[in-house]
Amino acid sequence: MKEEQSRKRRRGKNKKPQKTQPSLLPKHSTKLHKKTHQQKNPAHQSSSSSSSLKSSSFLDKMKARLAGGHFRMINEKLYTCTGKEALDYFKEDPELFDMYHTGYQEQMSHWPELPVNIIIKWLKERSSSLIVADFGCGDARLAKNVKNKVFSIDLVSNDPSVISCDMANTPLRPSSVDVAVFCLSLMGTNYASYLKEACRVLKPSGWLLIAEVKSRFDPNNGGADPNMFSKAVCEMGFTSALKDFSNKMFVLLYFKKKENQSSHGREIEWPELKPCIYKRR
Ligand SMILES: C[S@@+](CC[C@H](N)C(=O)[O-])C[C@H]1O[C@@H](n2cnc3c(N)ncnc32)[C@H](O)[C@@H]1O
Repeated sequence: MKEEQSRKRRRGKNKKPQKTQPSLLPKHSTKLHKKTHQQKNPAHQSSSSSSSLKSSSFLDKMKARLAGGHFRMINEKLYTCTGKEALDYFKEDPELFDMYHTGYQEQMSHWPELPVNIIIKWLKERSSSLIVADFGCGDARLAKNVKNKVFSIDLVSNDPSVISCDMANTPLRPSSVDVAVFCLSLMGTNYASYLKEACRVLKPSGWLLIAEVKSRFDPNNGGADPNMFSKAVCEMGFTSALKDFSNKMFVLLYFKKKENQSSHGREIEWPELKPCIYKRR
């Protein structure tokens, strides 16, 4: 009996491997076939689907980590270069812009309140005839949520309504807008040139609304002195209208452009705004 069994085993071992026919079925049909097999074997189904669930959640985690890493890298780049360099960086690879914004949206999903929503509310409480320029508009959420005419400006345009340029040099006409918005967008090392551009395109008595990450204006932690920043903006030809530090995540600084611009000729001393670098989670 034993001899017979071992002969059978030997025959099995020596059996020539059958050439497998390349499947003529499209890939999804093979999957369908597998599914039918699995349906017949519920035990097999539960173990294989739980292992595929595990591997897909592992893959998802890895993908999320990679995406987070890419986001942090692009974010750091934007805070440590000039607007011109940032424009060239995205021109070379526009996909980086989408990568940045996917990561940015993820970060923002942890903020209890978004500064852009506060600015939207501020605009809705005023006349919709005010013309707005949204400097560093991102996904143009502002323009999508108000009735006003909004010039949305960013380094890359994924939407025909967005003007793609470095916001230090926009195609907007001088004294043509009523409200200039910088919502978390004073990123470049040459941020003062963005504010000068806003001053150029704002009408007399126009509004300059700035929302920035709070840590950038925390002198106790290497951030800029908000008073020094405010003084610099005022020297450019504005008066300070509001300083709101009540939110945990961001500050709001609103200014009004003076009716008459008088140049004092002195160079304005702009404080350095520390980059907002996200830590690895
Ligand atoms: C942190 S995101 C904020 C987006 C939007 N304002 C919001 O609140 O959701 C900053 C945006 O500013 C843009 N930005 C940074 N520097 C810029 C520059 N020099 N010219 C135009 N856009 C710029 C970035 O591309 C990015 O979309």
